[in-house]
Amino acid sequence: MIYLDNSASTYVKPKEVVKAVNDALLYFSANPGRSGHQASVKTAFKIEEARERVACHFNVESGQNIIWTQNCSHALNLAILGSAKRGGHVIATENEHNSVLRPLEHLKKQGIIDYDIATQHDTKGITLDDIKKHVKSNTYMIICNHISNVNGAKAEIKEIGQFCKQNGYIFLVDGAQSCGHLKIDMQENNIDYLSVAGHKGFYAPQSIGCLVMNNSYRPEPIVFGGTGTNSLELFQPDVYPERLESGTISTPLILGLSAGIDFVEKHFQEINGKIDDLSTYLIYELNKLDVSLYTHPDNPYGVVAFNINGMDSSEVSNILNTKYGICVRGGYHCAPLKHKALGTLSQGAVRVSLSYFNSFSEIQKLLFAIKHIAKQKTSM
Ligand code: ALA
Repeated sequence: MIYLDNSASTYVKPKEVVKAVNDALLYFSANPGRSGHQASVKTAFKIEEARERVACHFNVESGQNIIWTQNCSHALNLAILGSAKRGGHVIATENEHNSVLRPLEHLKKQGIIDYDIATQHDTKGITLDDIKKHVKSNTYMIICNHISNVNGAKAEIKEIGQFCKQNGYIFLVDGAQSCGHLKIDMQENNIDYLSVAGHKGFYAPQSIGCLVMNNSYRPEPIVFGGTGTNSLELFQPDVYPERLESGTISTPLILGLSAGIDFVEKHFQEINGKIDDLSTYLIYELNKLDVSLYTHPDNPYGVVAFNINGMDSSEVSNILNTKYGICVRGGYHCAPLKHKALGTLSQGAVRVSLSYFNSFSEIQKLLFAIKHIAKQKTSM
């Protein structure tokens, strides 16, 4: 099997991540922060170490700025629903995933907010000018996908962050696809909230993410329950992270994420240099074929979308899977507005997404398969 669907989930996990999860199950299975006994305290200590690890990676003040979530979608829901201002206006972009669009639409349907969608005029990605056009007097939040999960387009985060800071808008960045691929400094980029997916660019297990918060704003809780603190009170505690973390957290997954971040930091140049090289090669070769390519030729982020003309993307993905043993994702990638913008609403797109653990020979095999499928199509 050749696995090229790493934007859905990285498939090969570093041995360090596997060991961290295994160790957690062996030695840290008590409930962190619920009891005062030694097993619980020992686990809680590891969790706090992991929080500090994440905080340090994104340059926020402390572990209290990290809220563990089930995944990136939950982090986005927390930031969006927990910050909703009645009568307010939000700007998001055409590159957003449904984990942004659906909570926004939900708030709109309830008559709580209104929102506008910024479109990209530059094929490389969203710019500050694209956003500025939509500002209204009641705008309170700007949400920006960092790297598109459909075609790798990258937004001008730094410029948008500065603009948000100057104007008092909450700046939420969806880092699902960028975390691990880019160094993200929350302070330097004036990001208020960043949503993180563990299982993609950090090579962690599935179902662990976090919301990284700068010191500027805090969302209201959207989930309520036990926090292990103030147990006699019927309301959520005021302190963070507990206020936003009801219910037992997942120690094995959190320690897996922490190990994944260690791995990425240690090999950052090597990982991203390789993904850049593989992307460049793939895009260069695809450009020679009779395909429609939707990724910018200079894009180095390992997310490459294309169509073999006249063929449905799911059909191509199916053939790649069944005939060549190559795993890619066709369809719409939960990003309807992006596909509308690319003009791929009828076909979807075939998305190849890379990881550090892919090789040139795998890309060559993919290219061979694409050539073959395209040739068969023309001869039909
Ligand atoms: N959002 C993930 C993807 O792009 C699952 O495939």
